[in-house]
Amino acid sequence: MTTPEFSIKPLDPVGAEVNGLGGLESFDAATAQALNQAWFEHGILLFRGIVSAEAHIALSRCFGEIEVHPLPELRAPENPFFFPLGGERVSALVFDETDVLVNRIPWHRDTAYTPTMCMGAILRMIEVPDAQGETLLGDTAAAYDALPEDMKRRLDSLEFHATISNGAVEHTGLGAWWSTVREPRDDEFPEGVTPFRTGAYPDKSRFPPVIMPAVLTHTDSGRKCLFISPMNVDYFLGMDRAESDALLAELVAHMTSARFVYKHRWSPNDALIWDNRRFIHAAFGNRPGETRRGLRTTLATKFKVARYADGSGTAPIDRALTM
Ligand SMILES: [Fe+2]
Repeated sequence: MTTPEFSIKPLDPVGAEVNGLGGLESFDAATAQALNQAWFEHGILLFRGIVSAEAHIALSRCFGEIEVHPLPELRAPENPFFFPLGGERVSALVFDETDVLVNRIPWHRDTAYTPTMCMGAILRMIEVPDAQGETLLGDTAAAYDALPEDMKRRLDSLEFHATISNGAVEHTGLGAWWSTVREPRDDEFPEGVTPFRTGAYPDKSRFPPVIMPAVLTHTDSGRKCLFISPMNVDYFLGMDRAESDALLAELVAHMTSARFVYKHRWSPNDALIWDNRRFIHAAFGNRPGETRRGLRTTLATKFKVARYADGSGTAPIDRALTM
């Protein structure tokens, strides 16, 4: 196989677009190595023209082993390595009192409620709504670097308690782009939308609470990342609830500010890979009645990044990751 030529163009304010690989259905080892280097440098890579499931899988394998989603009901029936996005069961939120969006997903890291949080994910969009539907990605390495030194020192040894979703709108960065945001009352859900409340995940008992470090040193880049996953964090250890809530609100506002966030407006067959250790992400949402449909693959981790809160089940977190 001939190694294809490709070029890299930075995105604003973070990430990079890879040009020249669209239409390929397989990737040689030299290309995979070059893509991995670019990925750890830029954190996000955007590919255009990934036109098939086979190309999506082949591209994903350039970056590591693909894992199935820990929630079996979220795996695609035709191929368990795909996690479908979009569909009937959607949440709805009201912004600035009147603007209703569905498919809104608050700021989070993927599978950041398990000790073996995934390393990254590759989302390929197939159907795109007429407007909105963006994916937002926040660079938590840049967010950490921008913190005052005394805050860095405070956070370096801090840990937090996390679950699959705390569902608390005020803690998830949802208000960062609007002056007000709230969940609709039952009678306000748009016609044709099945009400699904933020945080209403089935059978949360399958995912016991975990303890995670507030700061994680990325083993591939050496950079420190503000490791909070806003949708999953409940409280910081060693402080009372009011102090923890105030710190959380301050950090979420900081890490979701526009200077750290790449906002991607999708075209069909775009594929976006993000580094799940370095980035938090959110789905902006789209208007009811428009379709947004994509497939995600998930990259298995090589590390434990948390321990179970009750002390059972896994070995303690490798502290070398958080120094
Ligand atoms: Fe996600």
